Amino acid sequence: MNKVILITGAAKRIGKEIAKEFFRGGANVIIHFNRSERDAVYLCDELNAIRENSAVCIQANLDHSNEIELLAQNALAAFGRIDGLVNNASTFYPTPMGSFTTEDWDALMGSNLKAPLFLIQELCQELKKQSGFIINVTDINIHRSISNHSIYLAAKSGLSSITQSLAKDLAPEIRVNAIAPGAILEPPHKTWSDEEKNNILKAVPLKKMGTESDIAKAALFLAEAQYITGQTLNIDGGKSL
Ligand SMILES: NC(=O)c1ccc[n+]([C@@H]2O[C@H](COP(=O)([O-])OP(=O)(O)OC[C@H]3O[C@@H](n4cnc5c(N)ncnc54)[C@H](OP(=O)(O)O)[C@@H]3O)[C@@H](O)[C@H]2O)c1
Repeated sequence: MNKVILITGAAKRIGKEIAKEFFRGGANVIIHFNRSERDAVYLCDELNAIRENSAVCIQANLDHSNEIELLAQNALAAFGRIDGLVNNASTFYPTPMGSFTTEDWDALMGSNLKAPLFLIQELCQELKKQSGFIINVTDINIHRSISNHSIYLAAKSGLSSITQSLAKDLAPEIRVNAIAPGAILEPPHKTWSDEEKNNILKAVPLKKMGTESDIAKAALFLAEAQYITGQTLNIDGGKSL
């Protein structure tokens, strides 16, 4: 794959594995990060040590419109082209009724819905030029719901919806698909108790957690699937059945 792929939130966890998977597939990768500069630089150096000039990292807080614009400009300048965008960055935390604020709304809607949509708009002409692709990372729980996460789930539902509408709007040049992960990793800064973990696995027919690699391989598949658009791949061990 002689392509350039921008992955948001790619310094750690699932985004990092997606970046590595595209890199292994031969692509040059743009590793976006916000706070995790050390991890981003480390990953970038690791990839460049294997293949020179194959990775760059760019900082941006996706809550700010001007930083979304700058991210798009800097990403385009990095290798002179962009063939694929993976909207992976996300904020995730509970917002129980009675306690949430407009700041919570802005943070959860910002990174999970507004930023992906505006980043797509910024990169749309370039992605058209390259007959590129977009992959939005949503969440299997938009169909099953989880308690106290109404804002997060509304944002991911919106992201799922724009995947379908943009697949039509941006065809035939750009393919737009989504990946809906199930239980892959514990949320950042949280360790599940054995009881919590068992409860989660009870709802998963395959009786195990997924891995970052399961999501990354699905992303590479969708990137290369030339006759698939507007679809969501549920990578959830059967949880959605
Ligand atoms: N983990 C799971 O089991 C699971 C389940 C369902 C869906 N998903 C979805 O899969 C994707 C990856 O999951 P994950 O658990 O690996 O994600 P994560 O660790 O929660 O977040 C990924 C990155 O998003 C970036 N980010 C958050 N807010 C941002 C902002 N305002 N501006 C810029 N970057 C921001 C952070 O970058 P910095 O660290 O650089 O600040 C963070 O490292 C997400 O879209 C998530 O919703 C995951």
